[in-house]
Amino acid sequence: MPRTVLTERLGIALPIVQAGLGPAGRPPLAASVSAAGALGMLSGLGALSPASIRREIREVRARTDRPFGVNLLLNAPPDALQPRLAACLEEGVSAVSFFWGDPAPHVEACHRAGAVVLACVGSVGEARLAAAAGVDVVAAQGWEAGGHVRGEVSTLALVPRVVDAVAPLPVLAAGGIADGRGLAAALTLGAAGAYVGTALLLAEEASVHPHYRARLLAATEADTAHTRLFDGGFGSAPHRVLRNSTLAAWEAAGRPPPGQRPGEGQVVATSPRGPIPRYRATVASLDVEGDVEAMPLWAGQGVGLATRVRPAAEILADMASCAEATLRRLGGGARPPADIPL
Ligand SMILES: Cc1cc2nc3c(=O)[nH]c(=O)nc-3n(C[C@H](O)[C@H](O)[C@H](O)COP(=O)(O)O)c2cc1C
Repeated sequence: MPRTVLTERLGIALPIVQAGLGPAGRPPLAASVSAAGALGMLSGLGALSPASIRREIREVRARTDRPFGVNLLLNAPPDALQPRLAACLEEGVSAVSFFWGDPAPHVEACHRAGAVVLACVGSVGEARLAAAAGVDVVAAQGWEAGGHVRGEVSTLALVPRVVDAVAPLPVLAAGGIADGRGLAAALTLGAAGAYVGTALLLAEEASVHPHYRARLLAATEADTAHTRLFDGGFGSAPHRVLRNSTLAAWEAAGRPPPGQRPGEGQVVATSPRGPIPRYRATVASLDVEGDVEAMPLWAGQGVGLATRVRPAAEILADMASCAEATLRRLGGGARPPADIPL
């Protein structure tokens, strides 16, 4: 696999970073991704106490001696974010990825602790702000991505624009990258690697409820919707989910506003974190019980390419070797990787 500025900076073998995946990104997944040579990320940390976060970080470290990171959402109130970030930095994580807000207030603390800072953005303007704030890596998220979607531009159009806007900072391509052809495309667009979410939901180690997993396996690229239907700490932020009964009933009711939606307030499932009302933006992780089909089933358009449940190491090795073969076939092996600045 080509070395890129990203693999050098992070000390990883493969130019692939696991995206934040909410509570699906627990220690078994983060550790397996890192052990396989990519960069694993613990996510969903907003729902954990700083003490639990420390325990999870230590669990990853007990499973692998490779670098790994944590993902934090910037829409959290400062008094919730601050102690969680402090716990991560004190535990000495190698990288922190931020999403949904301005990373500027946190960059210096991360650097002082020796962590690489990654910011996921959805536009050139946001990428420029992140670069000015001093982040080390920018992930450009195209609108085909699963989960909350920051911008409205496709990965193919956004990534080279962000690459040009923040050069020489390394850029990761996010959204729709689910196999080696996608990774090769990302590198060819000038990205230093890929930020992969949906494809890793199919990893054996991901904390994903069996029903959600079955829906992911059966879905094609045409089965997702870009919507603002599900609530959560993101206000009415847009997101991409699989079409399900909750979405269908809301559409059939004429897309009424919050407060008037069908089954509003009805509890559809429960988790150790409490009851889950119908429109709650949460992830159907392994510890959820109830009507999982009615919950938001986050997925990007790359879901059509994710067709097997396998160990994370296998997904990543396939992605890397297929990218390498694709680049070799297209450019005699030399051109696209050599264009990536080291
Ligand atoms: C189930 C799921 C949960 C997500 N949770 C988070 C999260 O907690 N933090 C975050 O920064 N991004 C989150 N995202 C968005 C991803 O970080 C990333 O932008 C996206 O998955 C990339 O596109 P892809 O899904 O097509 O690979 C989530 C995505 C999915 C599919």
